[in-house]
Amino acid sequence: MPSIEGIDRVTYGVEDIEACKRFFLDWGLRLVREPADGLDFESLNGCEIQIRKVDDPALRPATESGATVREVIWGMTSDIEALRPLLAGQPGFQDREGTLSCIDPSGVGVGFRKTRKRAIDVAGTPANSWGHVVRVDQPSTIYERAEPVEVGHVVFFTDTLAATTKFYEALGFHLSDRYPGRGHFLRCSPRGGHHDLFLLQTPDAKRGLNHVAFTVRDLHEVIGGGMHVARCGWETQLGPGRHPISSALFWYFKTPAGALVEYYTDEDVLTEKWQPRDFEPSPTMFAEWAIAGGIDGNTRRQKSVAAPEPGKFITEKRG
Ligand SMILES: [Fe+2]
Repeated sequence: MPSIEGIDRVTYGVEDIEACKRFFLDWGLRLVREPADGLDFESLNGCEIQIRKVDDPALRPATESGATVREVIWGMTSDIEALRPLLAGQPGFQDREGTLSCIDPSGVGVGFRKTRKRAIDVAGTPANSWGHVVRVDQPSTIYERAEPVEVGHVVFFTDTLAATTKFYEALGFHLSDRYPGRGHFLRCSPRGGHHDLFLLQTPDAKRGLNHVAFTVRDLHEVIGGGMHVARCGWETQLGPGRHPISSALFWYFKTPAGALVEYYTDEDVLTEKWQPRDFEPSPTMFAEWAIAGGIDGNTRRQKSVAAPEPGKFITEKRG
């Protein structure tokens, strides 16, 4: 079976390149090239985030108007040739620069290449829980900002949930959990994080991007990173919070690159033994708990309760 490691590259088509430059620098990515036609960012392990103009003729077709993701390239640890028979008959098939790509049944560009990500020596802060003490004589980390390790998952709206799922399962993806008829959580290898791809079919049967999720090391980096992004003036969509499906801790922001981006950490890790579960979509199934409006980066307190004076904690006296 082909071995897909994870997401190697995400390409956005955007309207405002300068705003995306500010956003992703604040988000914690490294700007590694600034070609005439856009921006090339990398995460810590070399996962690539390309920013191009929405009307760049080199881009895959858009599934929606405005800024959105145009292509996702998956990295493989085995030979990509095993996937050629599955991709060659698909719409938009291309064999270029070591990447086999096409357009998936939801209209999104998808490709596979030998992974170009690097093995890196970073680790989250060990957490002491009852019965599992692993951090001794060592204070826990406080992050002033995040440096995402990689893009961990992508989420798209689809109007062809069954066909798109079948397409990815044929390539080696596995169903982790589902909202029957409404959403499928897929992981790109039998052993790994809960989902690398989530396909969402809403009653209005739209296509497009829901979010791109960046893996960070631990809860403290979700919080420190989120507060930094908030301090920079970017707007929280929801978070911090926790997903009951996947168990991950999250914080979602709106981005000029299109739809939402997410910091997340501590997702469930699954194996061949995992049995997919069925859930009914609901707000509490999406978030066990969450903070609306986020946390203010300066006051370090919840943002949506009675607004404090700038720079003051909400518990400080006014005047
Ligand atoms: Fe997510």
